[in-house]
Amino acid sequence: MATISLSWSASNGVSSAFSLSPQRRRKFFTGKQPHLTGYAPKIHRLAVSCNHGQDRKHASENVGNSPGKLDRRNVLLGMGGLYGAANLVPSDSPAMATPTSSPDISKCTRGTNLNTRKPLDVDCCPPVSTNIIDYKLPPVEKMRFRPAAQLAGKEYYDKFEKAIALMKALPADDPRSFMQQANVHCAYCNLTYEQAGDPKQKLQIHNCWHFFPWHRWYLYFYERILGKLIGDPTFGLPFWNWDHPDGMVMPGPFANKDSPLYDARRNQAHLPPALLDLAYSAKSPRKQNKIVSNNLTVMYGEMVRNVKKLDDFYGAKYVTGTAPNPGPGSVERGSHIAAHGWTGEATPSGEDMGNFYSTGRDAIFYAHHTNVDRLWTIWRGLRGTKPKDYTEADWLDANYLFYDENAQLVRVTVKDTLDNEKMGYVYQEVDLPWLNNRPTPRVKKSKVAETSGAPAADTVFPVKLDKVVKVLVTRPKKSRSKKDKEREEELLVIEGIEVDTAKFVRFDVFVNDEDDKPDELDKAEFAGSFSQVPHKNSINVKTKIRLGLTELLEDLDVEDDEKLLVSLVPKDGGEETSIGGIKIIYA
Ligand code: C2O
Repeated sequence: MATISLSWSASNGVSSAFSLSPQRRRKFFTGKQPHLTGYAPKIHRLAVSCNHGQDRKHASENVGNSPGKLDRRNVLLGMGGLYGAANLVPSDSPAMATPTSSPDISKCTRGTNLNTRKPLDVDCCPPVSTNIIDYKLPPVEKMRFRPAAQLAGKEYYDKFEKAIALMKALPADDPRSFMQQANVHCAYCNLTYEQAGDPKQKLQIHNCWHFFPWHRWYLYFYERILGKLIGDPTFGLPFWNWDHPDGMVMPGPFANKDSPLYDARRNQAHLPPALLDLAYSAKSPRKQNKIVSNNLTVMYGEMVRNVKKLDDFYGAKYVTGTAPNPGPGSVERGSHIAAHGWTGEATPSGEDMGNFYSTGRDAIFYAHHTNVDRLWTIWRGLRGTKPKDYTEADWLDANYLFYDENAQLVRVTVKDTLDNEKMGYVYQEVDLPWLNNRPTPRVKKSKVAETSGAPAADTVFPVKLDKVVKVLVTRPKKSRSKKDKEREEELLVIEGIEVDTAKFVRFDVFVNDEDDKPDELDKAEFAGSFSQVPHKNSINVKTKIRLGLTELLEDLDVEDDEKLLVSLVPKDGGEETSIGGIKIIYA
């Protein structure tokens, strides 16, 4: 179990505007998980350590998989030389590794679909300003309070709805208006900006280590714009508390057709009381009665089991010259993507929430990402004395541009995002029912790897994921001691995942699974998943995921085994996805 250094402070009287509406008190089970406590607003305070350790070896492993690099280059050249010669220089060579800098927004282009070569039918470029100020975090005078969406009462929603309505009423060219704010997300994810130091590469802040800090800044200004519009400097965004059973439905006010929080472009089958599936698959929905239990196991995996190393939480390194999507972190590729896909329209393109160009047009996006941001705060708190952040300038000095609440264009850096209290906001405290939810195995000491007759991994890849793929993967080390395990995490690396970013994709990964019950993710055999929502700007990328094995192998009691049976189970978009290889590494 991870060392927990949480300290809780009681309500500091920040607000009395929160009450629990009775319908939100639905209980989905009566079992071992604690129910939500603390209905009075409390602040989630997490101990912050100054011990920013090193995780460099690991970080360089992540981007330095040179065979993969060559592959990618060949693939890109094979796409008709769309990428120039600059791409021939390995993007992670130390000499040119510099943090990504703010894009030149005057060079924003609508972009072309790189597969069809047709211009995109969406233009999300921002108003241009040449007056850019380096943003300094203002001293915190009043703390903003971010409540759980299912606990915030009428008084809170009256304010929130008023603020969103005022934002929608701003002139269309005001960078703070609802649509301009939605376009901020579109522009940073739809390959509309050149990278500042490498015009051959486009900027993409998803599927890499920019995911958490970039979205934190996005919400920060969004919240300040809303607060300014209603004259309330303590206004905080609500968080959609989908990691708790009480929050696993769409929060009521967002589903009210008369509310400015409503968006018609949602999956109509997923309005309350439908349960949000954090392992959502459009093609093969899971059994309703498994969802809560699956969800809590998914959260445990993303927040505890799979994230011993920084890269596996934050996502892979991305610096000037890096091609899009080097690899997403656990929350990004899992629960986060699931909630996007589940909420958006039941169409292949999934607007609004289920497509990255349009997702900011649904007000629920901001409640969704506020929860993602809260999970970042919680994860840092759970780290205790372990490193919480990269110490590399390549991460800390990376910077982005946003319009602030005064419509001033500002340049902000990653290093200013590490402490949410310094940024002037805190989270309501709610229970974390996933925290000790370590799954049990279906079968202990399974012999399935010996008896399955599955082929060895190195004879199978690359392979198309149009059916379940089962392979035997050899462990370079076995019977590791407790010390070994503390020193190095054992990781299953699934690499060369080649996907078209315009498609919804999901596949699940199981280890030594005898029963083939792909609906049941609440057992130790479930190792994790890959998923993505579509982007307007379609491009083929090669990406990878890494899944922690140390705890899983303990749970299954197979530490002494030399081979593991790994099953890749496609749920969506498998026919168009291929996998380059699987290996086990120690980092
Ligand atoms: Cu910028 Cu949830 O995506």
